[in-house]
Amino acid sequence: MMKRDLKTLIQQMTLEEKAGLCSGLDFWHTKAVDRLGIPSVMVCDGPHGLRKQDEKGDHLGINESIKAVCFPPAVLSACSFDRKLMEDFGDAIGKEAQANDVSVVLGPAVNIKRSPLCGRNFEYYSEDPYLTGETAAAFIKGVQKHHVGTSIKHFAANNQEFNRMSASSDVDERTLREIYLPGFETAVKEAQPKTVMCSYNRVNGVFASENPWLLTEVLRDEWNFEGYVMSDWGAVNDRVEALKAGLELEMPSSNGINDAEIVRAVNNGELSMEILDQAVERILNVVFDWTDHRETQNFTLDKDHEMAQKIAENSMVLLKNEDQILPLSPEEKVVFIGGFAAHPRYQGGGSSHINSYKVSSALEAVKDVAEITYIEGFSNTEDVYQDELARQAVSAAAEADKVVIFAGLPESFESEGYDRAHMQLPACQNLLIREILKVQSNVIIVLHNGAPVEMPWKDQVPAILEAYLGGQAVGEAEINILYGKVNPSGKLAETLPLKLSDNPSYLNFGDGEHVNYAEGIFVGYRYYDAKEMDVAFPFGHGLSYTSFSYDHLKVDDSDFASDGIMQVTVDVTNTGDRLGKEIVQLYVQDCTKACRRPLKELKGFEKVSLEPGETKTVTFNLDRRSFSWYCTDLHDWYAADGTYQIMVGASSRDIRQTVSVQLSGAPLLPLKLHANSTLGELISDPRSRDFGLEMKRRLDAFFGAGNGDSDEAVSDDMSMAMVASMPLRNVLTFGLVSKDELSARLDELNRL
Ligand code: BGC
Repeated sequence: MMKRDLKTLIQQMTLEEKAGLCSGLDFWHTKAVDRLGIPSVMVCDGPHGLRKQDEKGDHLGINESIKAVCFPPAVLSACSFDRKLMEDFGDAIGKEAQANDVSVVLGPAVNIKRSPLCGRNFEYYSEDPYLTGETAAAFIKGVQKHHVGTSIKHFAANNQEFNRMSASSDVDERTLREIYLPGFETAVKEAQPKTVMCSYNRVNGVFASENPWLLTEVLRDEWNFEGYVMSDWGAVNDRVEALKAGLELEMPSSNGINDAEIVRAVNNGELSMEILDQAVERILNVVFDWTDHRETQNFTLDKDHEMAQKIAENSMVLLKNEDQILPLSPEEKVVFIGGFAAHPRYQGGGSSHINSYKVSSALEAVKDVAEITYIEGFSNTEDVYQDELARQAVSAAAEADKVVIFAGLPESFESEGYDRAHMQLPACQNLLIREILKVQSNVIIVLHNGAPVEMPWKDQVPAILEAYLGGQAVGEAEINILYGKVNPSGKLAETLPLKLSDNPSYLNFGDGEHVNYAEGIFVGYRYYDAKEMDVAFPFGHGLSYTSFSYDHLKVDDSDFASDGIMQVTVDVTNTGDRLGKEIVQLYVQDCTKACRRPLKELKGFEKVSLEPGETKTVTFNLDRRSFSWYCTDLHDWYAADGTYQIMVGASSRDIRQTVSVQLSGAPLLPLKLHANSTLGELISDPRSRDFGLEMKRRLDAFFGAGNGDSDEAVSDDMSMAMVASMPLRNVLTFGLVSKDELSARLDELNRL
């Protein structure tokens, strides 16, 4: 295909046509310019299936869309920790989009799970930026193989639903760089999504839609984003400012109102034609990439249903399995309890809501495997304890060998558009579980939820399967795992805290106009580990029906000498008696004390499939960035010289092997000394140490330290600790250094 000459095409467009192209025709289409052969193309949600609306459009999941496949939402698929599977998932979506004339799919959604309460957590991958970025990049590659664009969203710091269209996420730069941006950064650098969707919220006071730092400096200049930025639906506040900041396409249509604003701004010189032309070119690039690469239909709904099942089976997390109560055997007398067995909750509410062409329930799926008894026990739509239903459940449970309770959150408990009020299951479910435990100890809980729930019965039940929201093949996946046809291999992409108030954002979540991200970089396990807190289940945790051992952790080239890569290998062996998959996780700990950092951070993972007795060597490639933190003084990533621990294990709290490495060759951080720098700061840096000690000596002499009387009252250590917090300006006002001497010495040091 010949490359199109877009510049010439744009020269032929009128100002009005150019402005028009920068906003939607309606809810889902871009505008055409028929006389120049520019077509109108369709975009549609979303992250885990097509929500293509043929008739009436909306962005809240209200009106019908075409029948499609509901794949597992991100909350579950991220637990696969499987790049290949995520790419295949994207590939399936890309094919469906091609066949349905959809040019851009509005996903993946990669916002960090800051609080369990965010109503949209089910659409997001993880509390960890590395896992988020790797997962998103793989998914994007899969979709875009088909020249169908993706729209990675919601850029950025959109971590709550309350006031999502107006609130400001107030986040310091280091936290943005280390926690909230890397998911986007990795995806852009590794997979070049065709579009980025900016979020509704403000970031540090400036709307994301008109934030030049975010949309141009970071996204384009630093990460080299090549596609176009579109607004979330209705996120534009000031159209002209937005265009200047780097927002090319406004969605949906603004009914011509904002197009007229653009025309006016160009005519009065407020907006340059170059900016407009560039925006049009970026949009047209993506439009034509799609129209020039149309594919004939090569998917079937049934095949994609199987794909949805495979993703669910590789992602559900076996949280607990005492005495190997699972897998079940068809010979056992099993009772299923709970409305979710018959009517599973498998997706969340809002713009990602899919009109599934079929849904499998556990009750249907089990028919091919075993004969069981089903008792509803409780309704899965409301929180009402119904005595008669509960009585039937308890009496059936008492008679059974084993009981599986299908529990979960009702539809209304979590959705786009609002946050959850608490982290509990409906009280009626907890109560029924308690009643059943009085007559039966072989209880297995299967959870259907888009975000963590408190589990007051956690220590009394022998097994818990976290099915999250499983997509439309949820039932088949659950039965295959429960009966052992599939060996579970998902691991948690988030920490499950014991209770809501343990969460680091607890005191600063859901605020109105300004949301203070006061916990900084200590999000998820970074916080729980630093606080040495007990959690219900840690990040990265997940069991298998087999077991694995880890040996021979090795680092090949600890100073990145040749190619900037440090290779780490570890041998993993399946020590049990069935085929299984292990997610091997690599965490890095910075022991240099150059700045405050989490105790560990995920920097690598690999999923390996092992036959019983088989050993495989798993390889990780680390680069300097794997060890770095974001230094705002340098405006860059930085890893100080010194010791780092590389920890490899089965979860963030099940580290099996550790090795230390020494890094060298880091530049020294610039000194930024001034009259209010403390003696402690000076003395701690080798470059300014002598000057700091000199100032201290003058102070000691001034206070008479070192004479007989003072020795008794103040030891050397005490005196050092006391002056550590003393600013240089005090030394100045005591007359111990002149203004000129001080500023000359500081200038000299700051130049080092
Ligand atoms: C959501 C987006 C979605 C868009 C279109 C918005 O309300 O925030 O995630 O893609 O609607 O439905």
